[in-house]
Amino acid sequence: MRQLKADILAVGAVDWDVRLFDRLIPLPDGTSYNSYLIKGSEKTALLDTVDPAKTGVLIGNLSKAGAGKLDYVIAHHAEQDHSGSLPDILKLYPDARVVTNPKCKAMLIDILDLQEDKFITVEDGETLSLGDKTLQFIYLPWVHWPETMATYLKEDKILFSCDFLGAHLATSNLFVDDEATVYESAKRYYAEIMMPFRRQINNNLEKLESLEIEIIAPSHGPVYNRPEFIIDAYKDWASDAVKNEVVVPYVSMHGSTAKMVSFFVDALIERGIMVRQFELSTVDVGKLAIALVDAATIVIGSPTVLIGPHPCAAYAAFLANALRPKTKFASIIGSFGWGGKMVEQLTAMLGNLKVGILEPVLAKGEPKEDDFGKLDKLADEILAKHKELGIVK
Ligand code: FEO
Repeated sequence: MRQLKADILAVGAVDWDVRLFDRLIPLPDGTSYNSYLIKGSEKTALLDTVDPAKTGVLIGNLSKAGAGKLDYVIAHHAEQDHSGSLPDILKLYPDARVVTNPKCKAMLIDILDLQEDKFITVEDGETLSLGDKTLQFIYLPWVHWPETMATYLKEDKILFSCDFLGAHLATSNLFVDDEATVYESAKRYYAEIMMPFRRQINNNLEKLESLEIEIIAPSHGPVYNRPEFIIDAYKDWASDAVKNEVVVPYVSMHGSTAKMVSFFVDALIERGIMVRQFELSTVDVGKLAIALVDAATIVIGSPTVLIGPHPCAAYAAFLANALRPKTKFASIIGSFGWGGKMVEQLTAMLGNLKVGILEPVLAKGEPKEDDFGKLDKLADEILAKHKELGIVK
C-alpha cells in the first residue's frame, strides 16, 4: 500500500514476475494492476480491482488501509486484469455498489456473472460525491476496448486514466522516477493495444484538454506527477507524422535472405535513413511494435517456404496489419528456390495498412549482382518517397 495524497491510497498489486500478457504480449519488466482507494468525508470508493491472481494482495492492502467499509467500486474497464477481483471484493463488501457505464456493466455481467442490482450506471461527465471529494466520470472509449472510462478527482486534479496512458512496468516507486524507462514501456503498451485505434486516441486526448490535471494515475505502471510527459508522448505517437525510418523484420533459412537484408540495411544507412532490423525467429514482438509506431516504411524479408512466406514473416505481416501503424510504404525482399507466391501472399496480409507497395526484390537462390542492384534501387526509391513526405533532414 502506498499513498498518492492524503486519503488517496494505491492499494493494487505489483507483478514483478509476469512475462507474458494475454499469452501474447511480452512483459520484459513485469507490470502492475493499479487500484486506488479514495476516502471521502462521507463515502469511500475503490477505483478498479486487480488481476484475479493478485486478489489476495488487494484484500491485504485494503485491510492495511483500514477500509472497513466500501461504498463504491468504480469499474473503468471490464477486462479481467482490472475487474477480475470484483466478485471477491463484492463478497467482502456486500453493501458496495459497482459504478460504471452501461456498456461496461453489460460486459461485467457477461464476464463475471455479477448481479444486475449490484450496479449504479453513470453517463459521460456525470459526477459522484464522496463528501469532500468529487469524482467525475469521463468516457474514453477504444483505448482498446469500447467501454473504457476514466475518473477525474476534481478537488485533487488527479486523472485516473485506466489503461490509457499506462505502462507495463513493475516499480517499487509509486511515482515515475525514470522517464526514459517509462517512455519505452508506455510506448510498447501504446503500440501493442492502442495504435490500431489512433483516431479514437486522438479524440480522447482532445477530450482531456479541458481538464486541469496535476497527476495521472493509470491502471498499469507508475503514477505521473508530470502529466505533460505522457500526454505529449501520446500526441506524438498518435499524430499523422512519420519519421525517416525503415523497419526491416526478416527471417532467413539458408542465408540468402539474410545477405539481402544485410546489403539493403547498409544501403539505407548510407542514404541517411534510420533502420531498425528484427530477426523474426527470436524477436520480442513488443520491440517490433514500438518500431512500427513512427516508421515511414516497412520492408519484410522472407524466404519462400512451401510456396508462401516463412511463417515467421507471415506472423510479422499479420501483426503489422492488426496494429495498423501509420506507415506509408511497404515492400518485400527475399528469395526463392524454384517458385511460389510469397510476395502475393504477404502483400494480401497487409490489407489494413494504407501503404504504397514499392517494387519487391526477389532473388532466385543466392543473391547476385543484379539482385543487389535492385536492392540499391529500392533504397533510392524509399529515400525519394521519404523526401516527398518532407521527413528527410
Ligand atoms: Fe489493463 Fe485492457 O486491461
